[in-house]
Amino acid sequence: MRDTTGLAYTPDIAAATQPIYERMKRVVPAVEWPFHAPLVHEINRLKRERNAVILAHNYQTPEIFHGVADIVGDSLALAARATETDADVIVLAGVHFMAETAKLLNPAKTVLIPDTGAGCSLAESITAADVRLLRERYPGVPVVAYVNTSADVKAEVDICCTSGNAVEVVESLGAPRVIMLPDEYLAKYVATQTSVEIIAWKGHCEVHERFTGDEIREFRGRFDELIVIAHPECPPDVLEAADFVGSTARMVDFVADRRPPRVLMVTECSMSDNVAAASPETEFVRPCNLCPHMKKITLANILDSLRTLEPQVAIAPGVADRARRSVERMLAVKPR
Ligand code: 13P
Ligand code: SF4
Repeated sequence: MRDTTGLAYTPDIAAATQPIYERMKRVVPAVEWPFHAPLVHEINRLKRERNAVILAHNYQTPEIFHGVADIVGDSLALAARATETDADVIVLAGVHFMAETAKLLNPAKTVLIPDTGAGCSLAESITAADVRLLRERYPGVPVVAYVNTSADVKAEVDICCTSGNAVEVVESLGAPRVIMLPDEYLAKYVATQTSVEIIAWKGHCEVHERFTGDEIREFRGRFDELIVIAHPECPPDVLEAADFVGSTARMVDFVADRRPPRVLMVTECSMSDNVAAASPETEFVRPCNLCPHMKKITLANILDSLRTLEPQVAIAPGVADRARRSVERMLAVKPR
């Protein structure tokens, strides 16, 4: 039950949250702040009381990303940083597979996902039984699972990867052929970057599969000097039309390092807002595809989670031990 009674935008809360608002004022209109500020203030207070930490993915909305998150990043950074926290409680502002990964790496901690319905079309596209069938069909071929999979699937594979380390993970196996699942487009992209033969599953991200190469060319026609940076979950014709391809964290670094005057980020829409908040010199052209799963996480349900310490992520011990091994193997692969 969400009870936000008693949370009002008082002069004290306005003053206390002003420095937080400064971080996002370029992307959150001033008229909206009185609605967010009391929640932001209460979440930050309750975090201290609970010794909790909030991990937020790059696709979270700016009031979460800049307002209450302690650790932000791509799936790889969130998994790696989850191993470093000494908090008792982890709130995952992201989707369910990310919360499962945090739980795998912190079995003794309370891991909360504010909405258990925050899924992922890639994670939904494959089951543990599918992986067992693939192993029968390709005996001896190692299996790499994108972290966008359930713990059940991670338990059946040799190693995990993210879009930030997929090529390094595939090459670390020293095999001539590798099965990569479930993202067909990420697998195809990796195949262009390595001599290892890649066998792909046909899962897709429902957000990135909607972009087209024609759409990118149309944007180039409308905006001069446009730099196009795309996530590898996009279809091959989009990646061919892009100037740079990388994980969400690599996209953030690209803008910070190169400071291009005008950028098209071909990925989930909130990410441009979060980067724009810190990049006043860059104009962001936004083709706005939202991830409906990421958007299920709100300030209101984060607060609810911290108050009730629910919903908690639980993974059956027999599955967790094997799934954890796949994630830990990934974390041991050295970045290039
Ligand atoms: P990153 O690992 O690049 O953050 O991507 C995760 C994701 O879900 C992209 O859609
Ligand atoms: Fe899954 Fe795509 Fe949403 Fe990422 S953006 S969580 S891959 S559906």
